[in-house]
Amino acid sequence: MAIRKVVKYGDPILRKKLKPVNFEELAPQLPALLQDMEETCLAVHGVGLAANQIGLDMRLALILIPESDKKDAPLKRIVIINPEFIEKTGEIIEEEGCLSLPGLWVEVPRATEVTIQFLNEHGEKVKVRARGLLAKAFQHEMDHLDGHLFIDHANPALKPAIKKELKKLRPTWN
Ligand code: CO
Repeated sequence: MAIRKVVKYGDPILRKKLKPVNFEELAPQLPALLQDMEETCLAVHGVGLAANQIGLDMRLALILIPESDKKDAPLKRIVIINPEFIEKTGEIIEEEGCLSLPGLWVEVPRATEVTIQFLNEHGEKVKVRARGLLAKAFQHEMDHLDGHLFIDHANPALKPAIKKELKKLRPTWN
């Protein structure tokens, strides 16, 4: 078990459309991989981590989200493998960040409610309807699997400011 290094903005793997997972093939290594991803995500206080953020080309992401709205609620782990959107509705604009662009927070539009279908960590096909933080996390992580980043959704008028901010932040990343 180990904390992996999180790939930062500028690495080409963050712009790659990732390969579908063959669950049977991955299954033997999956528990250890998920353990590493969870530890890595926790270590940097992230809500989610996609496979390419630790350098792996596979359509898999992990989300760590509070079980309830209660303060200090335990975190629940949701693993999404080969996810697909079934439905997206509504729009909300909120600030978002990403472990691959640490320190940058930008307002981006997202659907308020989504239904997605995916394989869970046991290889079962499940369908989940989500709102709030979980809906946002699903959209953010599914973007990663297609090589997209949250800043791609920012208002074009914000792009010069984002570029400037990234130039300032980059030297602080390791
Ligand atoms: Co991210």
